[in-house]
Amino acid sequence: MPIIAWTEAMSVGNAALDKDHQKLIGMINDLDQSAPDFLELFNAVLDYTNGHFDREETHLEAIGFPGLDAHRVQHDDFADQVADMLKQFRAQPFDPADTRLKDFLWSWLKGHILIEDQRYAAWTRAKGG
Ligand SMILES: [Fe+2]
Repeated sequence: MPIIAWTEAMSVGNAALDKDHQKLIGMINDLDQSAPDFLELFNAVLDYTNGHFDREETHLEAIGFPGLDAHRVQHDDFADQVADMLKQFRAQPFDPADTRLKDFLWSWLKGHILIEDQRYAAWTRAKGG
């Protein structure tokens, strides 16, 4: 799995949230499902992700972003999908060549940052913030 890099196109115009996204991308890049402590590392990613979602939602609430409810649904939906995948992994660890877990994390996060998070970034810019 190639190393994925944060790019300017992912910036949401908020330094703390950009930093969160950079950290998450780094954590996902470092995930290795063949590592003996994989589940621990994976849980650390989930913890960080949940903390990030809270920080992001708090920010969106503070700025009065009108799409907050829909955005929260996206976050909750991701949490459900990851919990489901984790259940599958615990029941039967995926083969090291089976990259669906990391592919899912990465494609979701990338799509979310580039599309969904850009909605509040654009909204903030439009109102002069
Ligand atoms: Fe988000």
